Amino acid sequence: MKKSFICLLAAMMVFGLCACDNGKATETPVVTESVQPEVTIEPTAEPTATPEAAEAPVVYLKDIYAKKGLKVGTCLTKAMLTDKTTEALIKEQFSSVTMENAMKPDYIFNQTKSQETGDLVVEFNSEMIYMLKWAKENDMAVRGHTLVWYSQTPTWIFREGFDKSGDYVSREVMLARMESYIKQVFEQLTELGYIDLFYAYDVVNEAWMEDGTIRSQMNPWKDIIGDDYLWYAFYYADKYAPESINLFYNDYNEQFKTGTLVKFVNTLKDEDGRSLIDGIGLQAHLYTSDDMDAYFRCVDTLAETGLIIEMTELDVSMGAYQKEELATAPNRKIQGQYYYNLIGGIFERIDNGTLKMDSLTYWGFSDGLSWRKSASPLLYNARLKPKEAYYGAAQIKEFAGFDE
Ligand code: GLA
Repeated sequence: MKKSFICLLAAMMVFGLCACDNGKATETPVVTESVQPEVTIEPTAEPTATPEAAEAPVVYLKDIYAKKGLKVGTCLTKAMLTDKTTEALIKEQFSSVTMENAMKPDYIFNQTKSQETGDLVVEFNSEMIYMLKWAKENDMAVRGHTLVWYSQTPTWIFREGFDKSGDYVSREVMLARMESYIKQVFEQLTELGYIDLFYAYDVVNEAWMEDGTIRSQMNPWKDIIGDDYLWYAFYYADKYAPESINLFYNDYNEQFKTGTLVKFVNTLKDEDGRSLIDGIGLQAHLYTSDDMDAYFRCVDTLAETGLIIEMTELDVSMGAYQKEELATAPNRKIQGQYYYNLIGGIFERIDNGTLKMDSLTYWGFSDGLSWRKSASPLLYNARLKPKEAYYGAAQIKEFAGFDE
């Protein structure tokens, strides 16, 4: 699948870039220098900018969504914050952030200290701390993303001697490493004074396949521990996360995995039958050609579990899977209408009490910074001008691409 291929490339790139750290283990969390590639924000010419935008009303998504009890989020990188225009836009429009990369497993372990201490050592990076400090100063809530994932995770954490050429460790050792890892994440966020920013955490990302099986390719968690690695991830997260943080399973292609997800979340119970999971994260990486009724059937079915449902990475690419389209004026209108109907359907379900949703996160805001930039999936063009998509997301029908 295209997505897996992209993830593989990303993982390869990241493995190549992942610097190993020096220094001694300490009791208190230490922050390492960032190991992530810097992204430069360069406004690009966008011949298809929305002409009507100048006459459109000035609105703020965070106010509109707050009326429905929703936080509205964007993914975040440090580069977005060091660009003043981008930073101002985030502060104006959003009330929640998810780190695009900085909290992923690839960026939060120290290999040298793990080798020295014999335990998997979590050490947050400076980029993550910079963003958490900014979030605290600017009253932003944070979604934690992500703990247990097959992708963007260093291979050495699974191996003897914390060495990428070592053999896989035993199930018992890996479970101990998983427990220690999850414990350290919540402990260190607490010690650093940022834990209260977090309201949701993706405990497991992308573990299920469309055919109802657990991902088996390139998934050392499953290879070493077995299928119950999923149960243990939630068991440990429930043990160490504060009550105030809702624990999520997060996945893409959710509309093709709905039955599987319902069955899965029902297995996540402790010895007393108490649920270990609080919510299901719908990544919602959609296309304008995707069937919206089918999508809402998925939302409704998952909502019937009684769990919180969050949209965690929403973007609506122009065109179809394997047939992306350019941001021509007609395509921008189609996309604006799609966003209008999608967000309208969500608001309607919140209003009639059939959907327990407390936050909706877009995977960015500007097409120029999107991981899917070739399909212009976001609310603003690369010059940060609102598109029809933005007005669709804001529920302002006159500017969302509908003909009068
Ligand atoms: C998945 C992950 C995200 C991100 C996107 C691509 O959806 O959950 O963290 O990596 O892929 O940007």
